[in-house]
Amino acid sequence: MIGIDVGFGWTKVVSEEKTFKFPTWLAYYTPDPIAEVDTVKYGDKVYVIGNDVKYEAQRIEITGITELMNYFPVFLKYVETIIGKQDRIVTGIPIKYRSYLDKFKNIIEEANHVECDILPQGIGIFLDVEERLSDENLILDIGFNTLDYLILIKKDGEWKKRKGNTIEKLGLIRAVDVLRSSLPDELGYARNFSFSRLLEIFEKGSIRLEGEKIDISNIKRKALEEYTEMIKTRLKDEIGGISDIETVVVAGGGANLIKIDIFEADMVIIPDEPEFSQARGYFKLGR
Ligand SMILES: Nc1ncnc2c1ncn2[C@@H]1O[C@H](COP(=O)(O)OP(=O)(O)OP(=O)(O)O)[C@@H](O)[C@H]1O
Ligand SMILES: [Mg+2]
Repeated sequence: MIGIDVGFGWTKVVSEEKTFKFPTWLAYYTPDPIAEVDTVKYGDKVYVIGNDVKYEAQRIEITGITELMNYFPVFLKYVETIIGKQDRIVTGIPIKYRSYLDKFKNIIEEANHVECDILPQGIGIFLDVEERLSDENLILDIGFNTLDYLILIKKDGEWKKRKGNTIEKLGLIRAVDVLRSSLPDELGYARNFSFSRLLEIFEKGSIRLEGEKIDISNIKRKALEEYTEMIKTRLKDEIGGISDIETVVVAGGGANLIKIDIFEADMVIIPDEPEFSQARGYFKLGR
């Protein structure tokens, strides 16, 4: 049994034996006599998954929920090559697309011959931190592409979903955009870098110029502040102020980077290894 969270950036897996992640990248395999890569056969096609995709020519872009659902079975098969065939999995679907839940379940059960539970995303994080919550909670998942939020209220001893949504392009990709546009002229050449290269620079907080390492942590900090303001403004629009919220949970990989003292909540919880929070919760449910 595993908990698996396939995000636009990374796929996170939690099992009894281990917790791991790999980039949610996919390509058709181009046969190459010297290549030593693990491949996955699905339907009549052979795929390369994860880090090995870097050197493949025929990459498949996972741009939306349709691709994410349709290629999920390939990612799961890949996971099974690492930790063995599973009889049961628990996974999730972005809150905005919860109406596709049954369809998604069918795709997985047919393709992977596995028993499968699918939760609205955010519930995984909830399960991960349940004991630490108050009566009114805001759960934020700052991902690579999306920012998801879910408000959960405890009423008469029972948990109720109050509101939730998936906001596309407000994940860390937006923070990288902000960084791109705030680069000073002397680093202007880096504005044309590919997204993944800028993301790397963003994560490292430094950039290489003619073999020299230049510290950009100040620019990064400013970009993060601006990005945090964007999140705050958008959440205010969505839920009209968060002042009644007692506890804010910030999870997803973005929680490793974001300044959190901006939320005027009584308590802010960042789970350990926040990018795995969702998958840990799924695993907890399935165990
Ligand atoms: N330990 C870390 N330190 C710094 N940044 C990190 C760390 N882990 C993850 N990140 C950043 O957080 C981003 C989002 O990670 P996450 O796994 O939450 O995205 P995702 O679930 O794939 O995206 P989405 O939820 O949009 O589908 C990563 O692309 C990476 O830039
Ligand atoms: Mg995610």
